[in-house]
Amino acid sequence: MKKSRDRKPKRGSVAPAGSGKNLIRGRFARARLPEVEAFTASLPFDRRLFRHDILGSIAHARMLAKVGLLTPAELGAIISGLEQIRVEIESGSFKFDIADEDIHLAIERRLIAIAGAPGLKLHTARSRNDQVALDLRLFLRDEIAAVIELIEHLRRSLIAVAKRHVETIMPGYTHMQRAQPITLAHHLLAYIEMLSRDRERFEQTAARMSVMPLGAGALAATTLPLDRRMVARELGFKSVTANSLDAVADRDFAVDFLSASALTAVHLSRMCEEIILWTTAEFGFALLPDEFSTGSSMMPQKKNPDLLELIRGKTGRVIGDLVAMLTVLKGLPLAYNSDLQEDKERVFDALDTLKPALDLTAKFWPALIFEPARMKAAAGGFALATDLAEYLVSRGMAFREAHEIVGAIVREAIGAGKSLEDLSVADLRRHSTTFGDDASNLLRAENSVAARTIEGGPAPSTVRRRLKELERR
Ligand code: ARG
Repeated sequence: MKKSRDRKPKRGSVAPAGSGKNLIRGRFARARLPEVEAFTASLPFDRRLFRHDILGSIAHARMLAKVGLLTPAELGAIISGLEQIRVEIESGSFKFDIADEDIHLAIERRLIAIAGAPGLKLHTARSRNDQVALDLRLFLRDEIAAVIELIEHLRRSLIAVAKRHVETIMPGYTHMQRAQPITLAHHLLAYIEMLSRDRERFEQTAARMSVMPLGAGALAATTLPLDRRMVARELGFKSVTANSLDAVADRDFAVDFLSASALTAVHLSRMCEEIILWTTAEFGFALLPDEFSTGSSMMPQKKNPDLLELIRGKTGRVIGDLVAMLTVLKGLPLAYNSDLQEDKERVFDALDTLKPALDLTAKFWPALIFEPARMKAAAGGFALATDLAEYLVSRGMAFREAHEIVGAIVREAIGAGKSLEDLSVADLRRHSTTFGDDASNLLRAENSVAARTIEGGPAPSTVRRRLKELERR
């Protein structure tokens, strides 16, 4: 018969000391209720951190060996045990047990089973509180790099489309009313600017997050002589946390990440909304590519932009993740509280929403079929009224006076059922003799756009220069 310590404990009792079942329940006489176990566990989702947990543990162990808290042999056993665990989890052979609460204890329990006594030393001067603060940073560092790569992918895809449409005239809008002619490239450059800022925000998040929390322990650091800077160096952190309470209670980096994610998602949503408008029959500026479109279960003629609608719709989730994280933090006293365990699912959800949205948007843009003739047709007419007023100003007239005169021209044209292009110079001169023969040039959208060479403007020459700058970066 097996020794009693090897037997599975009966429900309602705890296994004897040293069984490896009760890493943190030595003080308890009875086991947790199964429903409490299930409710409080983070293992079902935080197992996603396993690689980073192992990475952090190896760095911690190396440092423990360096300061004399582990022998070289113990360190060797710990490292090979942790590496074996990584392989087991990757290959799917690792047995997860919800009783382990989280990935940290799951790995530690397995390490003790594999490595024996040295495994019992790994958690020296460490708490899951500083451990999870480290793991989430290591995880986010990799994920932020991946998000930045996806943003770059989308920027490159927009730049490529813009390069083909530097001369494609379209109306620009204010208040969703036709306002002034611009080009499609100029419009796309506006998105590229948004994405450049998004990239910057993720980079700043990563830089601010580069602070190593191990050594904070549960909240009050440790009496043992850890070398925190060594761990920081090993793991590529710029510095170490300066306050042990802050180290375990801070999730500002998660908020930074979620806020950068929410704003990026909002940018994608605005983009998608615009494409949805452009591909309506009413606008007709573009056609939906089949590969990205869905049909209707009832109406045979339909081609729907579900993908774009869902990128727009899922933005709500990412904003929700940010708000949920802020809400978790707002009432928390120092230092660690289990509420903080809620951080991971918010971060994972934002990532799992944002990454495919970025990827699909990048693939979508080059596939979109533009209708330049429809765009140009919408860009003439009254959208040129400001050009007429600026013509008068360039000949010395006060802007308000010019505005009024052109307003009267517009009123007259509408009354006569005409558009501005239908007017002759003689028609213009009846309103102001300041109009010369060259005024007829004004009534063409391409001329209007070409004249806006000012920095930040839509003139093809200006846009080409900006595109070159962006490509160089
Ligand atoms: N699973 C926990 C989390 O995700 C790890 C830290 C738990 N610490 C604790 N004392 N319960 O935040």
